[in-house]
Amino acid sequence: MLTLTNLSVSYDGSRILRGVNLTVPERSLVCLMGRNGVGKTTTLKSIVGLVRGESGTLTLDGKPIGHLKPDQRARLGIGYVPQGRDIFPHLTVWENLNLSLVVHGTRGGGHLDRVLELFPVLKEMLQRKGGVLSGGQQQQLAIARAILTDPKILVLDEPTEGIQPNIIDLIGETLLKIKKEGRISILLVEQYLDFCLEVGDSFYIMDRGAIVAEGPIAHLNDEIVKEHLTV
Ligand SMILES: Nc1ncnc2c1ncn2[C@@H]1O[C@H](COP(=O)(O)OP(=O)(O)OP(=O)(O)O)[C@@H](O)[C@H]1O
Ligand SMILES: [Mg+2]
Repeated sequence: MLTLTNLSVSYDGSRILRGVNLTVPERSLVCLMGRNGVGKTTTLKSIVGLVRGESGTLTLDGKPIGHLKPDQRARLGIGYVPQGRDIFPHLTVWENLNLSLVVHGTRGGGHLDRVLELFPVLKEMLQRKGGVLSGGQQQQLAIARAILTDPKILVLDEPTEGIQPNIIDLIGETLLKIKKEGRISILLVEQYLDFCLEVGDSFYIMDRGAIVAEGPIAHLNDEIVKEHLTV
């Protein structure tokens, strides 16, 4: 449903992405992996429209969307959870969630109930300021907020970064639940290998701005890990 073809991106004249090809099929969870600084976040930013590609094509459900602005892409169904979470610290949890509903004009009630079911901890904290939540709770809030925009595809940038193991498990279970419901596909940038093995259907590995390995997650063997992921 989401396809990137031959995407290249430069920052200040230096080439960051070199002809990236990537597909996220319907009802699947795709992991994009790679060491620090290889271009994972830049790939996601190109997908959500925060970075302009120099060349290449981006399609959603077969329609080109590369010329659209970020808000237009969001309305077509691309939900984004940026690296470092990016919630509003001075707004309450409820306000953070509600803002998402207002901005995207999604019908409130049902969606909010469903999201609070996925993330029960947020239900207990609706009146708390986002900024006082733990890192793991903020990550859940950021994911919840993205789901409230009713996306077809959810794009997540390192949701496990700096988060304690029990919350990582919980986030993994939630992603699997979302995927199983069948309405949202997921593109996950992740450096935590075990997490990808647990939740992913397929993988792509990036190195210096290019895809250097890809396949079903079961094909992600020690050799590939050693060559492209181990630091
Ligand atoms: N706004 C920018 N201007 C110039 N260079 C940038 C900019 N953003 C990123 N870069 C450079 O582009 C390269 C890829 O960065 P990117 O953030 O996409 O990597 P990443 O794979 O997400 O890394 P990490 O694992 O650390 O999050 C890096 O060399 C980075 O320094
Ligand atoms: Mg990054």
